[in-house]
Amino acid sequence: ISSENQSILSAYEWLTKLYHHLLRYTKDGKEGYSYFQSRNVSEHAIDEFQLGFAPNIKDFTAEFLKKKGFHQQLLVKAGLVSLQDDNSVTDRFRGRVIFPIRNHLGQTVGFGGRSLGSGEPKYLNSPESELFQKGRLLYNFDLAKKHIRKESRVIIFEGYMDVISAYQAGIKNSVATLGTALTEYQAKLINRYVDTSILCYDADKAGLEATYKAANLLLSVGSDVKIAQLKDGKDPDDFIREYGAEAFENEVIRSSDTFMAFMMRYLKKDFNLSLEGDRIDYVEAVLKQLALIESSIEREYYLKELSVEFNLSIETLAQEINTLRENSG
Ligand code: UTP
Ligand code: MN
Ligand code: MN
Ligand code: MN
Ligand code: MN
Repeated sequence: ISSENQSILSAYEWLTKLYHHLLRYTKDGKEGYSYFQSRNVSEHAIDEFQLGFAPNIKDFTAEFLKKKGFHQQLLVKAGLVSLQDDNSVTDRFRGRVIFPIRNHLGQTVGFGGRSLGSGEPKYLNSPESELFQKGRLLYNFDLAKKHIRKESRVIIFEGYMDVISAYQAGIKNSVATLGTALTEYQAKLINRYVDTSILCYDADKAGLEATYKAANLLLSVGSDVKIAQLKDGKDPDDFIREYGAEAFENEVIRSSDTFMAFMMRYLKKDFNLSLEGDRIDYVEAVLKQLALIESSIEREYYLKELSVEFNLSIETLAQEINTLRENSG
């Protein structure tokens, strides 16, 4: 690690502590504290996740860090402040609550900042850098690691708040991507720790599409995938707040779908099954997905289901799958 990156880590460490302290104990952070209160985030969770508040003052952060001996140039490079035309600087995260994003060693390598009201963008992250690579990090991975290993499964959410709500509900084996689609790097990382990945994305169109992609990615790196789906456009945090931890565990996590059950439902959206041509295309699309499944028992189970639903012989379907599997190596 370069000495410049070492300094950037140190700046993030100072700020994580400062923003957290302000939120937790001072008038300057009261706005942030009230915000988390209004979202039912407990003091314990505020401490665990080191949540903080960056005051809405243009040069607050820069002045603080300059006094600690950091050069302005470094702060710009770290994505903490932006340089104005008149050579003054403006805090990137001013007026936002802060979600420190830690690497697997527990070092803060970036921030997610959420606006308190309806200010856009809703979430602002640190810019991509050597230390902060969104496609290689997972929110909460450092704390979740040991739980993920112990339970041999992980729950993957879209948002920071989903992870925090789940944590408060006693579910500690969860992580979230950082506002981007799950990457192969992240899928492989996860697969080193678990047998089963449970995808629990927001119940909207974007969440559904992201689920489809992430599920295929996880499967392709050899992870078992389950899909926990919510209803009515809700996200996990909304659900937990409305129905509680127990309902989330029982009705969402424990009743999650297998990959294929999800896929067979998901793929139906694209076809009109009252048309013969569409029926054939649908069966072919399902077979393509089935061919990716490693367990022959599982494959046979869904083959039977297809064969009954579409009145096709198992032999024909099985043959088609074998061809697909051979071709994909
Ligand atoms: P969501 O909009 O679903 O976030 O985006 P959320 O956690 O449910 O938000 P609130 O606080 O409850 O309203 C999911 C994730 O996508 C990223 C963030 O990482 C967020 O947690 N995101 C979202 C951004 O990076 N920028 C945005 O403008 C919105
Ligand atoms: Mn604390
Ligand atoms: Mn969403
Ligand atoms: Mn959400
Ligand atoms: Mn939400």
